[in-house]
Amino acid sequence: MSIGILTSGGDAPGMNAAVRAVFRAIKMREPNSELVFFRDGFRGLARRLDSSTDRNVARKDIRGIIHRGGTFLGTGRVPELIAPSPDDPEFAAKKAAHDAFLQVAVVNLFQMEVSHLVVIGGDGSFRGARKIAQAFRQTFPDRPFSVVGLPGTIDNDIHGCDYSIGFDTALNNVVDAIRKLRDTVESHRRAIILEVMGNTSGWLALQSALAGGAAAVAIPEVPATHDHERILGALRAGARRDYRYFIIVMAEGVRKQAGADWATRLRARIEADTQLADTLGSPLEVRLNSVGHVARGGSPSALDNTLAGLLGAAAADVIQLGRVEGSDPNRSKVEPGTDVMIGCRGPRPVVVPLAEVLEHSPRLVHEGVPLSKLMTQLMLRADQPF
Ligand code: F6P
Repeated sequence: MSIGILTSGGDAPGMNAAVRAVFRAIKMREPNSELVFFRDGFRGLARRLDSSTDRNVARKDIRGIIHRGGTFLGTGRVPELIAPSPDDPEFAAKKAAHDAFLQVAVVNLFQMEVSHLVVIGGDGSFRGARKIAQAFRQTFPDRPFSVVGLPGTIDNDIHGCDYSIGFDTALNNVVDAIRKLRDTVESHRRAIILEVMGNTSGWLALQSALAGGAAAVAIPEVPATHDHERILGALRAGARRDYRYFIIVMAEGVRKQAGADWATRLRARIEADTQLADTLGSPLEVRLNSVGHVARGGSPSALDNTLAGLLGAAAADVIQLGRVEGSDPNRSKVEPGTDVMIGCRGPRPVVVPLAEVLEHSPRLVHEGVPLSKLMTQLMLRADQPF
């Protein structure tokens, strides 16, 4: 039997280190184990496979990748893996494509004798993996097969892990952008609205705003943060205290929740605000910027590579021993045929059933989390008493 590995969804720095860790830890324990790499995410499962060349990747295939950003395996999103809704006008065609994709993937996995599929990605990727696993077990009930997920996304919105692989690097990339923008903003005494990735969850925007010393932040899942009046109040308070820089961080998903023109409307409000103009002596000029995909690029941070190593090695433990080495064997046993994710609590890897991960992901920011509280404690506010 062999172990398949793929990366899926948005690339995240540290994915390469995770692939390398799975490979090395598996081979360290059982040098004759066979590994298969699937390229370009789940797409790689549905192409014509050649078992003479595709099987058993060699050590040289994972050489020189630990310092590289992105994923050397390639990645992607596969719309066919999402089951269409019966209300979809193209339901029949989409359902046929969905079933066909699953069938080809399952047969390929069978022919490649894959017993474990390691999927490094976010919750969308885990949903796809689970569908494939269920289809596999239905088609070939006598063949062992299970999925081991590793959380790899810059969004950090996966239930069961404090931090996902890639988040720390992206966070540092965004904070670096904020610091650079601050130089120019402060020179001109302007405001900047900076858009950061995060379609449904605002962890990256929130934490980078806090770490970068932003004046305000807006995130999709907390509607109170979309309020222009609240942000204006914060800027006025800053202007009265002689601030020279005003950085407003917004997550991309705010546009979906509060209107595509949310940032341009805010800019117009700020530039027309007479209270700000009176305090500063002239209207506050605003520039719009976006970090975009730059947040995802570059060499992974030491923390991301360490996390990738820990989780990748724990995946090897689960595949080969049925539990994370060193954990209580009675409490952490993973039954064969169970789909799991390797998450983390602090620096400790933990095994979480994939069904549980999917039930609670994406994990969203809400007003009860400590970072939300920090927003009110550390950022500018209209009623600031000092
Ligand atoms: O899934 C991670 C993520 O970074 C989201 O925050 C963002 O919406 C999405 O990827 C964008 O990815 P792409 O443009 O590559 O499809």
